[in-house]
Amino acid sequence: MFVNFRRIRKCQLVQLMTTCLVLSVVMICWEQLDNSVVSHVKSYSYRYLLVNQFTCINKSLTIPREQARSFSSFHYLLNHPGKCADRDVLLLLFVKTSPENIERRNAIRSTWGNETYIRHALGVTVKVLFALGSVQTKREEPAWSKRSGVGFQERLVREDRLHSDLIQQDFLDSFHNLTLKLILQFHWMHKHCAHARFLMTADDDVFVHMPNLVGYLQELSSRGVADFWVGRVHRGAPPIRDRSSKYYVPLEMYRWLSYPDYTAGAGYVVSSDVAHKIYHATLTLNASLYIDDVFMGICANAVGVSPQEHVYFSGEGKAPYHQCIYSQMMTSHGHVEDIHDLWRAATHPRVKQHTSGPLGRLYCTAAKLALLCKPYYFNTYPCKAAFL
Ligand SMILES: *[C@@H]1O[C@H](CO)[C@@H](O)[C@H](O)[C@H]1NC(C)=O
Ligand SMILES: *[C@@H]1O[C@H](CO)[C@@H](O)[C@H](O)[C@H]1NC(C)=O
Ligand SMILES: *[C@@H]1O[C@H](CO)[C@@H](O)[C@H](O)[C@H]1NC(C)=O
Ligand SMILES: *[C@@H]1O[C@H](CO)[C@@H](O)[C@H](O)[C@H]1NC(C)=O
Repeated sequence: MFVNFRRIRKCQLVQLMTTCLVLSVVMICWEQLDNSVVSHVKSYSYRYLLVNQFTCINKSLTIPREQARSFSSFHYLLNHPGKCADRDVLLLLFVKTSPENIERRNAIRSTWGNETYIRHALGVTVKVLFALGSVQTKREEPAWSKRSGVGFQERLVREDRLHSDLIQQDFLDSFHNLTLKLILQFHWMHKHCAHARFLMTADDDVFVHMPNLVGYLQELSSRGVADFWVGRVHRGAPPIRDRSSKYYVPLEMYRWLSYPDYTAGAGYVVSSDVAHKIYHATLTLNASLYIDDVFMGICANAVGVSPQEHVYFSGEGKAPYHQCIYSQMMTSHGHVEDIHDLWRAATHPRVKQHTSGPLGRLYCTAAKLALLCKPYYFNTYPCKAAFL
């Protein structure tokens, strides 16, 4: 007992000393150095040691409602208000897409986003919708549009006639308008699908293991989960001040050293109560910050919601092709050409057979250790996923 007590004291002392050391180094180097390592240390210490409340962010980005309305008052070019008419919707899943990505949308429709398959094979209702902005005529028309001689928007209207799943507003579809697309999703859910138990948002090059995801959400839903936001979490991420970066954010737009915690935009899920709160946050926040997942973090921070990590949600990363991964994966990023093959392989009945039972589990732990715990293998699920 006494020994244990002393050990704890010693640990705490070491921890305290390390913290002091890190802090003093940070203080000394604060202005002199400015590489990415230092900026990460800075933002981490900011996140963990100095201010953890971020109330000032909330305060300074709050604007009058009339002004905030300018971010959500775009009118719909394509819409399906009755899409969520079913009584029991487990999940409303928005895929963020761009007008020209028709092949990606078709791949999703015939694999993980096939609502008919989900209803019959998994026994639940999931609504898969595509969120997109508009094309402006002055933009270069893509080759497929020129070849067919049919205008860009007309192609979308035809596509939508076949599938009835495009939700389009008349803001220019561009990287720097992604936050408008985020707001579209939360506002659409609020208006037309408030009874869905979960909302997910995903990129159009993400692979979603729908059977695994549905099983996970059903389990959560049966426990009556609330205040729920899950994905690959970025903690204490610093804003990028390098002008040449795609993610550059000027000081005038966001002046603090780190962003509130947020989940990678590639794919994350919130429960309906969180979706409702985020909707309300968007009514009073300045949505000029164009990095949509960061803006989501700011909204969540304003309403007191924080994200939780799930090791099988990927951020930028692509999952290794292996049946032991398939049996647990939720999302994987960067799939376009291989989506049909991956869908077939990942949902094959053989996967469950080979990976269950004591022997299967032992085999999978070894296989996942080999796949995920290499020191040079970044950008996939973390090593600790091997032990789950
Ligand atoms: C969706 O799944 C159903 C049933 O499994 C199938 O009949 C249909 O062809 C699929 N749709 C697409 C677009 O692949
Ligand atoms: C965002 O959309 C609006 C409305 O179409 C447009 O005026 C603006 O230029 C777009 N912004 C960017 C950065 O593309
Ligand atoms: C919102 O933020 C942008 C960029 O920081 C700024 O230019 C704009 O004036 C702000 N809008 C309001 C209404 O304060
Ligand atoms: C953020 O600001 C809004 C409006 O000013 C306020 O209602 C809310 O309580 C604030 N949230 C936090 C966490 O301070």
